[in-house]
Amino acid sequence: MPPDEMFPDLLRDDVFRLETSRLWLRWPRLSDAGALARLGGDPAVALMTASLPQPYRVEDAAKWIFASRTGNARGHAAVLALAHKARPAEPIGVIGLHATRAHVALLGFWLGGPFQGAGLMSEAAGALLDLAFAVGEIGEVHAQARVENAASIRVLEKCGFQPDGRSPVDLPMRGGVFLCDRFKRARDPGAGVTKTDAGALAAG
Ligand SMILES: CC(C)(COP(=O)(O)OP(=O)(O)OC[C@H]1O[C@@H](n2cnc3c(N)ncnc32)[C@H](O)[C@@H]1OP(=O)(O)O)[C@@H](O)C(=O)NCCC(=O)NCCS
Repeated sequence: MPPDEMFPDLLRDDVFRLETSRLWLRWPRLSDAGALARLGGDPAVALMTASLPQPYRVEDAAKWIFASRTGNARGHAAVLALAHKARPAEPIGVIGLHATRAHVALLGFWLGGPFQGAGLMSEAAGALLDLAFAVGEIGEVHAQARVENAASIRVLEKCGFQPDGRSPVDLPMRGGVFLCDRFKRARDPGAGVTKTDAGALAAG
């Protein structure tokens, strides 16, 4: 199965929304660039990620938004902006699953500093993983975090990830090699949603 077919039509259209108790997870849009650059440009956020440049300019965020939308449309990624339900136009962070090879996806996420520590990323990641395992062609999701990134490791643990070793990882955007913990979560046997459930999600 080519990674292009990892995510179904449901996630490939930008009307897609995933609702959690406090959040909308939706496709990033160009109008998000300013807020994402401001929040993702915070060194305390960027320096724990593999991919956020530092500094993070509005043009960088716009390029990332374009690439994310392209990946979503092609079905080899599910990259979404997080927004409080009451303020859906104001992104507070991002989460993404990227197909790496057949049936395997890599999870990444970050949340703006003012919104951290309230359980939001655990809520978002849990919902996205449940959906992806239910409707996507995913058998396993991988993730990694720098060993000192206790918050990220805790989010992964809360979302059912199991430790999968520790190794030095080259993070060119961070300018070097950093010791990282690897995690993985396998699809639960029997995971699935009905066509009715999927329709409701698409219409959300
Ligand atoms: C990682 C990140 C997304 C977590 O978002 P969040 O919404 O604050 O996470 P949650 O509130 O859902 O959960 C965080 C958990 O980590 C725990 N935690 C946070 N900081 C901690 C620390 N220094 N030591 C131990 N535990 C810590 C929290 O107590 C919470 O666990 P609990 O619910 O059992 O109490 C956010 O901190 C972030 O964006 N960091 C910078 C970017 C980043 O690290 N991205 C991931 C790269 S791998």
